[in-house]
Amino acid sequence: MQLKRTGSICSLGHCGRFKSVLVRCRLQMGVALSVLLSAMHVQADDHAAIKYDPSNPSHREAFKVAEAVNSIVRSVRSNYTKRLVKKLKADGYGADMESIGKPGFIPLPAQFVKYVGIQLQRDTKQSFSYVLKSQWNINDTAFLEDEVDRVSWAFLDAQQKGVDSFKSIQWKPFVTVRQSGEESVLEYVAADTAAGESCVACHNAWEQRPEIIERRQMDGVAARKLFKLHEMLGMLRVSVTLE
Ligand code: HEC
Repeated sequence: MQLKRTGSICSLGHCGRFKSVLVRCRLQMGVALSVLLSAMHVQADDHAAIKYDPSNPSHREAFKVAEAVNSIVRSVRSNYTKRLVKKLKADGYGADMESIGKPGFIPLPAQFVKYVGIQLQRDTKQSFSYVLKSQWNINDTAFLEDEVDRVSWAFLDAQQKGVDSFKSIQWKPFVTVRQSGEESVLEYVAADTAAGESCVACHNAWEQRPEIIERRQMDGVAARKLFKLHEMLGMLRVSVTLE
C-alpha cells in the first residue's frame, strides 16, 4: 500500500507485509536492533525532505489537493456513518468488522474509508492517495511505518500534550515535501480525533483485547490505552505527487 510511495524503511523488509517478522526481530534483538535499523534507515533513505514552501506554485497546488482530499474523506466517513450505519442500526442491523456473510451488516466506517483509499492507491493514474495510520492501530497494517508517519505523529501528539480540553485544540496538519526518485511528493498529515463517544467506546474496548495488549507490548507502546473524547485516535495521511 503505502510502500510504493514512501520507500525509506521499506527497503528493510516491506514492513506492511512483513511487520510480524520485524516485530519478532525486534523482540529477539531488542533495542540494539532498533538502533541499527534506524541507523540503516538514515543511510538508506534517498527520500530527503524538502521544506514545504508556500511560495512555490506546485507546492501550493499540491497542498490544495491534499486539503480537498482530507475534507472529502472526512465527509464521506461521516455521511456513511450518519446515513447508512445509523439507518441500518435503526432497522435492527448495522456495521460490523466482519460484515461479509452477515446479512444486513455493512463494513465499519473506518473499513469503508480504507477500501476507498486502497483503490485510489492502486490507480496509478491518480496523483494522490491517502491512508489512515495510528500508533494505537487496530488494523495491523495501519502502524507508523516510515519517517513521515513517525515525525507527523510526534508533531500532532505534541499539540495535545498538557492540554486540558482536547476539544479546544486548533489542530495543525504536518506538511512536508519529500523526494522519491524522480518524483516530489507532498505529505499532508492531519489528526483524526475521537469526535464522538462511539469512537471512544469502541476503540477503548479494542485496547482491552488480549491480542491488542500483546501487540502494544511488542511495539513498545503503553497497553490498555484509554482514549478520551476528542483525543487523537489516529491520523489521515494524504500524499500528493507534485506536477
Ligand atoms: C464500532 C467500533 C468502532 C467505532 C465506533 C470507531 N472505530 Fe475506528 N476502527 C475500528 C476498527 C475495528 C478499525 C480497524 C478497521 C480496519 O480493519 O481497517 C478502526 C480503525 C480506525 C483508524 C485507523 C487506524 C487503526 O486503528 O487501524 C482510525 C484513525 C480510526 N478508526 C478512527 C476512528 C474515529 C475518529 C472514530 C469516530 C468518528 C472511530 N474510529 C469509530 C473500530 C471502530
